[in-house]
This record gives sequence, structure tokens and C-alpha cells, in this order.
Amino acid sequence: MDAQLSVRTMDDFRDVVYNFRLARVFATALDLDLFTHMGNRFWTSKALAKTLKANERGVEILLRNLETAGLLKRRGASYGVEKVGRTYLNRNSPAYQGAYLDLVHRQWENWAQLTDSVRTGKPIEDDGPDDPEYRQSFTWAMHQRSERPAKQVSAQLDLNNAKTLLDVGGGPGTYALEFLKRNTALQAGVWDRAPALEVAREIAKPLRHGKRLSYYPGDLFDNPVPGKFDVMWISNVLHIFSPAENRTLFRKLKRALNPGGRILIQDTFLMGKPGFDALATNLFAVTMLLFTPTGNTYSAQAVRQWLKIGGLKKTRCLQLKKGTGDWDGVIIEGRI
Ligand SMILES: C[S@@+](CC[C@H](N)C(=O)[O-])C[C@H]1O[C@@H](n2cnc3c(N)ncnc32)[C@H](O)[C@@H]1O
Repeated sequence: MDAQLSVRTMDDFRDVVYNFRLARVFATALDLDLFTHMGNRFWTSKALAKTLKANERGVEILLRNLETAGLLKRRGASYGVEKVGRTYLNRNSPAYQGAYLDLVHRQWENWAQLTDSVRTGKPIEDDGPDDPEYRQSFTWAMHQRSERPAKQVSAQLDLNNAKTLLDVGGGPGTYALEFLKRNTALQAGVWDRAPALEVAREIAKPLRHGKRLSYYPGDLFDNPVPGKFDVMWISNVLHIFSPAENRTLFRKLKRALNPGGRILIQDTFLMGKPGFDALATNLFAVTMLLFTPTGNTYSAQAVRQWLKIGGLKKTRCLQLKKGTGDWDGVIIEGRI
């Protein structure tokens, strides 16, 4: 969906302000676990209301809206679930995105506190995120959102010359595992906090290429880099930290690169040219304001500058095929 936006009239403004309504309709459908209950059958509002223990008028209005949004289809007076709902929003589907849905869903109330965060500059949930249970469910959510882009990235990144790769802040190891699958001589490691690595182990366990994955529990700032590597892959980590923290991280990683090695960074970047989703990048900075003490989103130009300061003199932006990879498909490379 195109997120480009330009508010020029009061009507445009009103439309944006009211955008929360459809998001709220989706959130209520998730609260009711509607897509699981509906499964593959067609339902009248009356029958579904009974199953959901909800009000018939309420359910009828909800169903109509979900249909106009494309999540449901209608046959006479009955509704059935379209592919997205059947595949990703139904607990009984193998591709159910439960952990990711929980993560997004929890944000509903957090975003309502944005004004406080803007006033104080502080995250609204400073003590929650490092609880091990939260970390594990967050890590599953990361796996669910990264599975598709990881396949696309590994198909387009040439790692032929690399023998070793470190997935820095790699969480579930989704990227490291896809790189291992495609590059049969590669050895990879995931460096992240211990609870996140438990999830990575569980994901890797049944996979043949999972045997070539190592686990390095630790903190990116408090602990040394766990060895020397040909490639440092850093996906969706930069936005958690301030510019100064990122520069510190780059310097540290550079010292642990083997000769001829490189750092590859995937994130949402401001590109300063048409065709890139600046709105998504800017909105993600709001998420970082709400959930991290120093996080933000950055321009590709700034990140390349930090790499240079960190001693990685040769930098460039790799552009994946349109519509593939995470965010806008931009990966920044830094070489010594
Ligand atoms: C947004 S997730 C990205 C996960 C994965 N790289 C991906 O793209 O799917 C950020 C990861 O960085 C890890 N992380 C954040 N700060 C960290 C720190 N100080 N030390 C170790 N890991 C950290 C988190 O635990 C989390 O797994």
C-alpha cells in the first residue's frame, strides 16, 4: 500500500486524523480472535455473534467494515475470511503471526501516550522490554516479520567470498539462517541477549544448516565482539541507538573484521529522494521515541558518514529489487 501522503486541505487533515478508525476495527477483530473463530466457514452476523459472545449489531457493523477493507468476502448475508486472514490471522494456520500481532496490538495504548514521550523525551515503557519473557515474545515477533525479507535478501546478497558472518543483534537468527541455507560453506553466529538466543536455538534446531550457527550471548556495548568475522550483518539495530552509540558500535565491529571484510546494514533509511517511503521511516522514529531511550531513524548519508568515521572508508548503498527485502530494500555496505 502506498504510504505517500501530502495534507493540503482540511479534508485531507480530517481523513488522516480519522485513519485510526479502521486500525481500531482491525484491533477489535483481533481482540475477539475473529479470524480464528471464522476459520474457513461462512458466517451470518447472528451466528458469529453467538460464537463470539458479542452483540449482533456490533458484529454486523464490524463484519461490514472488514469486508470493505478487503479482509472478508461476502456471500449473500454471510461472510468468509479472505487469504490474509486465513493465513496470518488465524491461530490454527501454520503461518499465524501471533507474536507479531501481539507486539503491534500492544502498541495501541502506548501510542496514546505519545504526548508524554514528546514532552519528556523518555520512552513510555522503560522497564518492560528487558524482561526475559517479553524478550522472547519480541524475538518470535521479529522472526515472523523477518522470514520473508530474509529469503529475499539472501537471494540477492553475494556472500561467496565470506567464510564467516556475525548477525549483530540478530535476535531469532532469521537472517543468519537464510544466509547459511544459501551459502553452504559459510559459518555464522548470532550475537544478542541470552533470552533472544533461546528462540534462535529453537528455530535452528530442526534445520540441517542450523548446525552451522553459533550463539554468542552478550551485550553489544558491554561485551567484546565474539571473534573475528568476514561479514558483520546488522539488521534493524541501528534505529535503537543514538548516532554516538552507533559510531561506537561501528568502530568496535570494524576492529573485529577480517582483512577484506565488510559491514552490511539493513534498516529504514531516509534517502532524500522520491520513490522511498520517508513517511514510514519518520513514523518508525516515533516508535523508537516511545520504546527506546535514544533510538531514532537516520538518513543513509549520515550512516555512511559514521561508517567512514569508524574507519570503513569505502561505503555504498545496495538496492535490492523493488518490493523485496525489508523496508525500501536498501542495504548500506562499509569496507575498510
Ligand atoms: C529489532 S530487533 C532485530 C532482530 C533481527 N536483526 C532482525 O532484523 O530481524 C533488534 C535486536 O537487537 C537486540 N539488541 C538490542 N540492544 C542490544 C544490546 N545492547 N545488546 C545485545 N542485543 C541487543 C535485541 O535483543 C533484538 O534482538
